[in-house]
Amino acid sequence: MDAKNHWEKIYSTKAPDAVSWYRAHLETSLALIERAAGAHSASIIDVGGGESTLVDDLLARGYQNITVLDLSETAIDVTKKRLRTAAERVSWLVGDITKIRLAPTP
Ligand SMILES: C[S@@+](CC[C@H](N)C(=O)[O-])C[C@H]1O[C@@H](n2cnc3c(N)ncnc32)[C@H](O)[C@@H]1O
Repeated sequence: MDAKNHWEKIYSTKAPDAVSWYRAHLETSLALIERAAGAHSASIIDVGGGESTLVDDLLARGYQNITVLDLSETAIDVTKKRLRTAAERVSWLVGDITKIRLAPTP
């Protein structure tokens, strides 16, 4: 099974809070981003974001230039649905970080 199928299988068979790496909030990542990012206009990409709430919490803190990238379209769709209209304020990429060509930051 290739990596994409592996992750799609996990996300299509388990609830978001049923995976071993689940945390309600990624406090350590949030603290590191807040320390490093500076302005709320900073470009932030969550590589392998999956179904995590990091994007929700970054939006709630006012970050305006967030991208979430994941191999799994299922995971991206779950996260978009959870965010409802706020999902429109995020850039979404389904792809492999080792292969995708990312646009230069503005
Ligand atoms: C252990 S999960 C963590 C997900 C999320 N960061 C969290 O904390 O809930 C790893 C994630 O990385 C993604 N992933 C694995 N390899 C990847 C790759 N080469 N490119 C993009 N995403 C990848 C998987 O689909 C999965 O969502």
